[in-house]
Amino acid sequence: MTESGSGPGLRAARDKMIAAGVHPLAIEVFAHHYRQLERGETGMIPESAIEPLDMPALADADVTEEDGVRALRETAVIKLNGGLGTSMGMDRAKSLLCVRRGLSFLDIIARQVLHLRRTYDASLPLIFMNSFRTSADTLAALSRYADLPVDGVPLELMQNKEPKLLEKNLMPVSWQKDPTLEWCPPGHGDIYTALSASGLVGTLLDAGYRQVFISNADNLGAVAEPRVAGWFAGSGAPFAIEAVRRTPSDRKGGHFAIRKADGRIVLRETAQTLPADQKALADLDRHRFASTNNIWVNLEALRSELDSRDGMLGLPLIRNVKHVDPADSSTPKVIQIESAMGAAIEVFSGAQTIEVTRRRFVPVKTTNDLLVLRSDVYDLGDDFVLDQASPMIPFVDLDGVYKLVGDFDKRFKEGAPSLRQAESFVVDGDWTFGDNITVVGKVTLDGERGRVESGTVLTS
Ligand code: UTP
Repeated sequence: MTESGSGPGLRAARDKMIAAGVHPLAIEVFAHHYRQLERGETGMIPESAIEPLDMPALADADVTEEDGVRALRETAVIKLNGGLGTSMGMDRAKSLLCVRRGLSFLDIIARQVLHLRRTYDASLPLIFMNSFRTSADTLAALSRYADLPVDGVPLELMQNKEPKLLEKNLMPVSWQKDPTLEWCPPGHGDIYTALSASGLVGTLLDAGYRQVFISNADNLGAVAEPRVAGWFAGSGAPFAIEAVRRTPSDRKGGHFAIRKADGRIVLRETAQTLPADQKALADLDRHRFASTNNIWVNLEALRSELDSRDGMLGLPLIRNVKHVDPADSSTPKVIQIESAMGAAIEVFSGAQTIEVTRRRFVPVKTTNDLLVLRSDVYDLGDDFVLDQASPMIPFVDLDGVYKLVGDFDKRFKEGAPSLRQAESFVVDGDWTFGDNITVVGKVTLDGERGRVESGTVLTS
């Protein structure tokens, strides 16, 4: 990597990172992406360059219980927990939110892992990838689980930070009102930089672990089950991603494909799709699979890939435009340079994908998702695994006034309604809800504002 082409913006950003003690490798990766940004690279993947990808299903895989348990005993778990949940108006980890019975995402993740350890006599280390904004809160919340840390393995992998750049001139933004807002985490693709810089890959290998299972902390369906661990270990693949069938609601989202040029599996995101290819992107019969971001990585393969590339996997750039204060849209627009963890699939020759059911993919991206999770649609068993208790997952669409978690909580102060018998629940306008409310069938509430009293049964 050379300094060629680095303008004043990159120089200023680099100086700022050095002064803040950011790891040199993270600065290199940032500079690489910064140059792509300056050149206006878009990372577009035209339809003509890809072919649809088909894949086997986990349900059909031949994995014995013994193989699964053996593989689980050689697995470490990493949860991505560095994001700030800004789309739900948060400035801290989403995983601190309460899901039910006083249990947060973090509590449920910890208890899922402790249960797996006991059941399968596996050491199964659990590591949280935190960012400067999520670390203190997360470690404080986890301190009640004294038996969670595993000897010789850290509980935290600290991700890097980078300056937000003013959209108008790509200079690092300065924000005296709250200087912490001048920084952001570089997206979950930063995990490879963090793994490389921290030496964690070597630590895990030396401790006898062969594979890692990495997933989003906001997906409580991502459980390190022996069956999946056994499938991955038996596949011999260096890297694999669990995929789900796309449904109409995923039409606008990314999908897997094969790159014609080299036969590698790639992930094409919406932002990487040309306007002329939008129809193909939305074609659920052509591009049938989306990523869960549940990823399995063989540690030896990762070590050799990182070693051969000086610790930099060279993932595609994601240009994320936000406001310097995400909670205040009158503040200047900034660009956050990011990359996505799943994009590494194209780096590994022999990478695979496997179809799993939606049970393993329960993401919480909006307060609509949060309402479903807080309702009785899922039961939480002794194993702390979400168990779908309703015939279908209802379609929930709340008005814009519920978008931010604080506003959502004020309106559902007394708890989420029962959605077990609901097909859809659409709320237009500003409604508050009492307790013990049941939604049956297809329900739409409209009107400017109102209150649904405790004990009400809302029907179609
Ligand atoms: P999301 O894409 O949902 O992002 O992250 P987010 O940051 O939580 O939410 P928004 O976009 O600000 O609203 C998926 C997972 O990746 C983690 C998040 O913590 C979440 O578990 N993540 C994201 C990181 O660990 N680091 C990052 O830099 C970004």
